[in-house]
Amino acid sequence: MIKLSYNIKNYRKDLLEIVNEGDTVIELGCHLGGTTKLLENCNVFAVDNSPEAVDVMNGLDNVYFISGDVRLHDVLAEVFKKVQKCDVLAIDLGGGYHPDTVFKVFYIWSSTFKPKHTVIRNRGLLEFFNTATGSAEDYQSGEGYLESYHDSGIPPQIKEFDLWTPSLDK
Ligand SMILES: C[S@@+](CC[C@H](N)C(=O)[O-])C[C@H]1O[C@@H](n2cnc3c(N)ncnc32)[C@H](O)[C@@H]1O
Repeated sequence: MIKLSYNIKNYRKDLLEIVNEGDTVIELGCHLGGTTKLLENCNVFAVDNSPEAVDVMNGLDNVYFISGDVRLHDVLAEVFKKVQKCDVLAIDLGGGYHPDTVFKVFYIWSSTFKPKHTVIRNRGLLEFFNTATGSAEDYQSGEGYLESYHDSGIPPQIKEFDLWTPSLDK
């Protein structure tokens, strides 16, 4: 299942409805752990590039925190060394964040960790989803990743990140 929302309350509600005790959750954009703290009894791998997040997130139990940019392959590889699959992928880079970037982040991380469920907070993606009408072709996924690409392996660093995000520091 893939769930999309914009309001952070709905994002948290969606996530809490999906997670089970003992689940492995990868959370991208955890900030100060407002959502992470609700994931009691889960093994959480949380990533954020805000310096503010470091002390707070390192102080949480059951959380392995990585300070880094989720667009970078090295950051994904660091998580992959710890865990190769997750039950739930949660992505909140900020509700108004560029939808193209959020979709690429979803594509890369979900193709790698093959979550059963993904929860995404992003206004642009929600607007697109609510507005678009698909053709009769039956492409859909019962998983938290795109089944069309499930055999593609771990995607390499996507070139567009370099082309479209000039402020990205390596
Ligand atoms: C709205 S906050 C997340 C709030 C959090 N999910 C919660 O429930 O409290 C968005 C977070 O995404 C992080 N973020 C944005 N772009 C990022 C990126 N490329 N890599 C890592 N973190 C990023 C920001 O640092 C910020 O902490």
